[in-house]
Amino acid sequence: MWATRLGLILAMAGNAIGLGNFLRFPVKAAQNGGGAFMIPYFTALLLLGIPLMWVEWGIGRHSGRYGFGSAVGGLGKLCRSSRLSLFANYLGVLGIVIPLAFAIYYTYIESWTLAYSFFSITSRYAGPPTLEGMSGFLAGYQGREFNDQFSGLGTAAVFFILTISLNLYVLSRGISKGIEKLAKIAMPLLFLFAFILLIRVLTLGTPNPDIPENNVSNGFAFLWNPDYSHIKNASTWLAAAGQIFFTLSIGTGSILTYASYLKRRDDIVLTGLTTSMTNEFAEVILGGSISIPVSVAFFGLLQTTQIANGGAFNLGFVAMPVIFYKLPFGSVFGMLWFSLLFFAGITSSVALCSPAMAFLQDHLKFSRQKATLFIGSILLFGGFAVLLFLKHGFLDEMDFWAGTFGLVLFALVEVIFFIWIFGINSAWTEMHEGADLQIPKIFKWILKYVSPLYLVGLIIFWGYQDGIPILLMKQRNPADIPYLWGARLLILGLLILFLIFTYKSLNRKKTISNININIREREQI
Ligand code: ALA
Repeated sequence: MWATRLGLILAMAGNAIGLGNFLRFPVKAAQNGGGAFMIPYFTALLLLGIPLMWVEWGIGRHSGRYGFGSAVGGLGKLCRSSRLSLFANYLGVLGIVIPLAFAIYYTYIESWTLAYSFFSITSRYAGPPTLEGMSGFLAGYQGREFNDQFSGLGTAAVFFILTISLNLYVLSRGISKGIEKLAKIAMPLLFLFAFILLIRVLTLGTPNPDIPENNVSNGFAFLWNPDYSHIKNASTWLAAAGQIFFTLSIGTGSILTYASYLKRRDDIVLTGLTTSMTNEFAEVILGGSISIPVSVAFFGLLQTTQIANGGAFNLGFVAMPVIFYKLPFGSVFGMLWFSLLFFAGITSSVALCSPAMAFLQDHLKFSRQKATLFIGSILLFGGFAVLLFLKHGFLDEMDFWAGTFGLVLFALVEVIFFIWIFGINSAWTEMHEGADLQIPKIFKWILKYVSPLYLVGLIIFWGYQDGIPILLMKQRNPADIPYLWGARLLILGLLILFLIFTYKSLNRKKTISNININIREREQI
């Protein structure tokens, strides 16, 4: 159980606020019409993000009442027929494997932030203060090309192992002493660091008086001036919905697990809304006000467009370090930026591992220590594959199947089981038990029709636009294809492993209940 309500809110906010808020969001907004991106973004927040948040909280608290901390068991308890319940439990494996696969590459990226905090404070990356130089530095660190700074993947491996060890330490301490305590330390620090950086950005003005148009105001204008031509593109709507899923961690099953540790009459309506809004504040206000405006101030509009089109890592790990190099006390600001990212990352990665932790303890009766070691081995094994084969697209492949498509798929499963099979009225009652706030009635309709249709639409569009070319590995370098298969097999392997575990645990339960029936019958005889 969570020890305090504040701890719960911070942990849930920590679950949501992650690398997505500070790295992914600004780049997606810049790529998809700036201010105009906010129209599909807020539409997705209202019709998918917030309703699905309540759905996951609702399923989670309901599961917890029966002693289940993951979708295996949790989804089954929403069904009245035993056959459907059995099917639901097998489907629930998605709610364990998707976040675990997500955690594998997420912890690896998180480890870069730890490394870069260290590089900032030790001025290790002070050597190449240009975009090309810093790009080379990142490529060397990632092992995409070796150079004077890095001749192997040793440094990346050390920081990765360190990051995994920190995650495992938190997980091994459990909910109130591990995850809640981490959130109580990391979240205030994250906000403090973000505010310091925000003030630094706002007081920056025009860093180079010779080029007055390169300033922070133009940076905000670049990000927020709407370019409505993007609204017509389906890809903008898909990117916005994808960002909502990623940033709120919905469809990962991790909110479900966190909510399973609630008490029966704990409020979920207001608390769920509060954590979503905290995430949005961190994303739109803080995440949107740091990297892009500062990049325009230093590099100008054209180069910032190129940086943003180069992706989230390009902005966070290439452009930002160059800026820190140019700022007075840059190593301190650099340390704040990368530590902020690290805190954002670790509070999300422990959440992504928690459905598997709960499953191993609930169903296989693993001790917390044994479950932690088991998860650690998976993170290490999978994470090293990501580390070694990054340049072959291993990470991107996992990000599509686990961090993009998988989330929407599992969210659809959750809505079908909670709203349609458990029933909207039972779901509504469940969500309002102990509630401090009444959800507006219109959400009944949204939950029943709009959200599921939106999800189906996303799956169809995504499948058509990205899924089929990715599935068929179109326009891929033939040399990368075995590695892309490797990424898929890793996810498939995890799926098979957890299906076998589920089969074993359900059969064991059946045997135990048969023994109990036999004993009762004998006693009657
Ligand atoms: N919600 C987490 C993030 O934004 C996964 O990074």
